[in-house]
Amino acid sequence: MDYSKEAILINTQKKLVNHLPRIGADKVKDEILAGLRDFPKYISPKFFYNEEGSELFEQITKLEEYYPTRIEKKLIATISDNIPLDFYNLNIIELGSGDSSKISLLLNQIPEYVLPTITYFPVDISQSAIEKSEKLIAEKFSTIHIHGIVADFIHQLNLIPKTEKRLFCFFGSTIGNLTIDEVKKFMTALGSEMQKGDGLLLGLDMIKDIAVLERAYNDSEQVTANFNKNILNVVNNLTGSNFNTRDFEHLAFYNQEKRRIEMHLKAKTDMVITFNSDTEAIFIKKGECIHTENSHKFNIDSIENISVWADFHTEIIVVDKNEWFCLVYYKKNK
Ligand code: AVJ
Repeated sequence: MDYSKEAILINTQKKLVNHLPRIGADKVKDEILAGLRDFPKYISPKFFYNEEGSELFEQITKLEEYYPTRIEKKLIATISDNIPLDFYNLNIIELGSGDSSKISLLLNQIPEYVLPTITYFPVDISQSAIEKSEKLIAEKFSTIHIHGIVADFIHQLNLIPKTEKRLFCFFGSTIGNLTIDEVKKFMTALGSEMQKGDGLLLGLDMIKDIAVLERAYNDSEQVTANFNKNILNVVNNLTGSNFNTRDFEHLAFYNQEKRRIEMHLKAKTDMVITFNSDTEAIFIKKGECIHTENSHKFNIDSIENISVWADFHTEIIVVDKNEWFCLVYYKKNK
């Protein structure tokens, strides 16, 4: 994640534009400080994904306890058996593309001769993730057009190219990071960005047995704990703060009323957090928590609500046999 310097990298055939500097380093620092001065304290989960954080997240997706990625990949790998998609001349826009391993599973199902008509736009907040995925996709699918976009797609939806015939992909239940109000706002914005016939493939993690949910965020190898704590390193880099990850404990539990996993960082001691400028220090009490993530879980009603907010109709819902995870294919009405 690089908010500070304008980065336009020319990468032989394609250029990668980093739009984060438009948000501005000062604004980012103010956003983080506002969360740390609030009660209860919070840090937005988008700050998990520096290079280290993106790598830790990739490790999470390979854990036995973390079922979402495994199930979703199976659903994507058989998508063309289940969903009627016309790939010819398609512009695929993947929001939060990460390592792009999911889109490869979809591209695998496209006939060789159709690939040169396709353009893939990975959109992610992590520049390192975009660079890696551009390379990976170009290696595996040499004829496809790739155009990486580094952006905060929740607030920079306007940067998405307004081409004809678009398939938006928003996998991983990343939408679960948003509160219900934010989902409504985001879906309304996405809906007005899309044109009649455009589609959205949305991955959603479903409500299920609490033990299964909680295990997925409390893995035995502590990868999720390290991922959670790493957000403090990102904050140190962006604000000049002096957080020490060893002063915090990882907490993750299911909030039944709000239908979400919550992750927090719990202070092990009293501490004073200082910054490298004339920013006022922040005091944290032993036992105090910093809320770092919500991961909402969904059901059939949520699938319906989302379609209403965006003026979509639900074409098809694909689920695994346990109904732990689902892929919804929506199309824009008008
Ligand atoms: C990428 C937001 C979907 O909520 O499951 C994984 C992030 N956090 N383990 C999720 C995450 C802890 C993940 N999303």
